[in-house]
Amino acid sequence: MSKELERLQKRIANSGYTSRRKAETLIVEGKVKVNGTVTDELGTKVKPSDVIEVEGIKLEQEDKLYILFYKPSQVITSVSDDKGRTVVTDYFKELDTRIYPVGRLDYDTSGLLLLTNDGEFTNLMTHPRYKIQKKYVAKLKGYLMREEVKALEKGIMLEDGLTQPAIVKVKNQDKEKNTTLVEITIAEGRNRQVRRMFEHFGHTISKLQRIEFGPLNLKGLNAGEGRVMTPHEVKTIRHMAENG
Ligand code: URA
Repeated sequence: MSKELERLQKRIANSGYTSRRKAETLIVEGKVKVNGTVTDELGTKVKPSDVIEVEGIKLEQEDKLYILFYKPSQVITSVSDDKGRTVVTDYFKELDTRIYPVGRLDYDTSGLLLLTNDGEFTNLMTHPRYKIQKKYVAKLKGYLMREEVKALEKGIMLEDGLTQPAIVKVKNQDKEKNTTLVEITIAEGRNRQVRRMFEHFGHTISKLQRIEFGPLNLKGLNAGEGRVMTPHEVKTIRHMAENG
């Protein structure tokens, strides 16, 4: 079941109105409305935004929570891991709301990751149609050539298609160590995309960090720390996604 969909009886029970069994009875008795319509089917699934009324009483909607997290490297972007490794939600165990990562960063990538209990917000941020720009800083093996930068700025052909134009800024080239420090901004979010873009030219990435997500950055946070986003930040980033 999609993460944001929930069985009606579970939603009623989670609201604290009554037990799940009593909720089932109320549903089949026709005492529950979803968005104003009586719904007496036990299998019904509801979205967080659906308005539920039980015996004429509206259930409280769960408060929406948006968190900006500085993900450390060696942490899985998931809510659980079958190998027992640390996952991003381990940092938010004290919350009484279940939150989920918005998109993902690789195990070895550190940096800015959003988490929320708002499934619609997640869709908006991760849908390919909405182009939120994400800035990464990467440390590469080898010397990044001018032609390679130009190609990345134009778009290169990867196995899953042509990349959209990227913004690339070489910050430092270390001739002795044969490494390049580079910032790259992309609006897409394909699997391991930044790594694959540089590997295309034979440069492996020894360190990758996401430093910006739209208008958001990591200011004031250390690795492993998070903060609640302000309503203004949520509004701004929503607007950016919707309007390009
Ligand atoms: N691109 C990658 O290759 N890895 C990430 O974690 C994010 C973007």
